[in-house]
Amino acid sequence: MTTQLKRLLIPQVDVIPLVEDDLIWLWHWNVEVPDAEWKRWDGPYFGDQDNRSYREFARDWRPRVRTGDRAIITVEGHRCGFVNRFEIEPVGGGWWELGLVIFEPRLWGQGIGRRALSTWTRQTFLETSARVLTLTTWSGNTRMIRCAEQLGYTVTGRVPEAREWDGRRWDSITMSLLRNQIA
Ligand SMILES: CC(C)(COP(=O)(O)OP(=O)(O)OC[C@H]1O[C@@H](n2cnc3c(N)ncnc32)[C@H](O)[C@@H]1OP(=O)(O)O)[C@@H](O)C(=O)NCCC(=O)NCCS
Repeated sequence: MTTQLKRLLIPQVDVIPLVEDDLIWLWHWNVEVPDAEWKRWDGPYFGDQDNRSYREFARDWRPRVRTGDRAIITVEGHRCGFVNRFEIEPVGGGWWELGLVIFEPRLWGQGIGRRALSTWTRQTFLETSARVLTLTTWSGNTRMIRCAEQLGYTVTGRVPEAREWDGRRWDSITMSLLRNQIA
């Protein structure tokens, strides 16, 4: 199937506010799934092992519910991933960092991330005074880099060999998009 045809068949992708009912689902993907594949791509060099009970997890996450800075990605109304954002200090300085994950590998590479990131980027420019948005990843995460490039993000920072993962060194990559660059 060509990429173009694949894209025509992509279902509805939405970014919706994070609510209390999402927490158990997030706990499942963050803690309960053993050796989750998504963690091999999302900052794997941190090697974080999350062993929190649901109670502990929910206690940490609850203050972020309905703040607008964390949200759920849905495909045809079904939860599939998560986006977040935080302001780089000083508050009001105009620089926000975004994050994005789709938990199930079978959904990767179908344009869902691109659509979700497009919505989240627009929403962030609309809801904050951000002048510039950044995403931080690593040189091995080509899917993330390609996904962001499709939306006009460019690589504006590269720290060579900053990360060690899977037996070799990788560059740390920062990608940026200015408010006036949004397509
Ligand atoms: C990164 C992520 C959010 C991207 O979402 P996605 O839906 O997979 O991305 P898209 O399909 O919109 O775009 C992926 C791009 O990479 C390309 N791609 C797909 N599979 C690839 C692969 N194995 N290697 C390299 N590029 C690949 C696609 O062709 C597409 O590029 P194109 O638009 O030029 O054709 C998603 O893959 C994910 O959650 N991965 C695991 C967690 C993660 O890495 N999070 C980001 C942490 S910084």
